[in-house]
Amino acid sequence: MKVITDVKEILTLQAAAKKEGRNLLPEDISIIKNATVVYDETINWIGDRANLPVEFKDLETIDGSNYCLTPEIIDSHTHLVFAGNRAEEYSMRLNGADYQEIAKAGGGILYTSKSTSEASEEELFQTACERVERLYSYGVGTIEIKSGYCLTYEGEKKTSKVIKKLKDHFSPRVNIFNTYLAAHAVPKDYESSSKYLEDIVIPLLKELAEENIIDFVDIFHEEGYFTLEDTKTLFQVTKDIGLKIKIHADEFGDNKGALTAVKFGATSADHLLCTTQDGIQALANSQTVATLLPGTGWFLGKPQANAKKMLEEGCRVSLASDYNPGSCHFDNILMIAAMSAPMYPLNMAQMWSAITLNAAAAVG
Ligand code: NIG
Ligand code: FE
Repeated sequence: MKVITDVKEILTLQAAAKKEGRNLLPEDISIIKNATVVYDETINWIGDRANLPVEFKDLETIDGSNYCLTPEIIDSHTHLVFAGNRAEEYSMRLNGADYQEIAKAGGGILYTSKSTSEASEEELFQTACERVERLYSYGVGTIEIKSGYCLTYEGEKKTSKVIKKLKDHFSPRVNIFNTYLAAHAVPKDYESSSKYLEDIVIPLLKELAEENIIDFVDIFHEEGYFTLEDTKTLFQVTKDIGLKIKIHADEFGDNKGALTAVKFGATSADHLLCTTQDGIQALANSQTVATLLPGTGWFLGKPQANAKKMLEEGCRVSLASDYNPGSCHFDNILMIAAMSAPMYPLNMAQMWSAITLNAAAAVG
């Protein structure tokens, strides 16, 4: 145990928590000033230094008078297990190409699937470890990680196992959530998305669920990737198995992703760049967290999600990095929060809850 004395400000978000992270006013950040904290894995005591109980008097002490304490920061949407890079596509986009055009021409997720399929489990584990350490260095203590860069039965199994290994390796210092995203893109040798779902995605999901390896199931529900029918099929299987749902929703068009998320009781609906009124309303009236990924909008040069409307309607808005080799190379969620808050805009309570309280809800 250690003691931090006279911490300048502690953001507890206590009022925000009572409101389920919705309709937040600046004061819902709930700041305690000049408090002394006794902690180890949890907070054991908090109060005025003058009242510090005797049993804590001899502990190691840190002067907190120039510090701000916040809840642990959470990045609830990353794709950090991948090999190779797609720097070339960044240049192509600056020179006029579009993300979906690049994907159609053999770039995009399918490009990363070559290098990731070739990499060994050990190589993927090692590079992912470095990435997790870097996120941890920003103050991130909980990370959701998605599979989805191999797109074969064996490859996706390998990736889900790498994430499981990361989870065991980093626990309890970093909490890791394992999301199954084999439905990330349709491999070239499949004539239809439904066939790929039927042959690979669903059978492997059942196998991994038996072994208790995964926490969430996700799908890239988007034109050129997976249809509404595919999404419903996968979500029904997921519900029957008893696993939780996440979705890449309405990123390039309003494809009823948010509505489908709510219908299936998804834990979170992510991206939402093109979600319109009916989707926003449905999210607001549900427990599903609206997770915004502004880094992706920036990297792809797309208009951002209508956060203003989501906040007004009472959605639980969260922010995550979407760190991946294609649509967002940026892994620093704190910086993303700081940069997107004036843009959307978010007030202080909304910004902090988006990367703590509501991000926690986004990982259940
Ligand atoms: O969240 N949208 C789908 N998946 C990622 C992009 C992955 C990639 O381009 O490699 C995303 O933006
Ligand atoms: Fe993503």
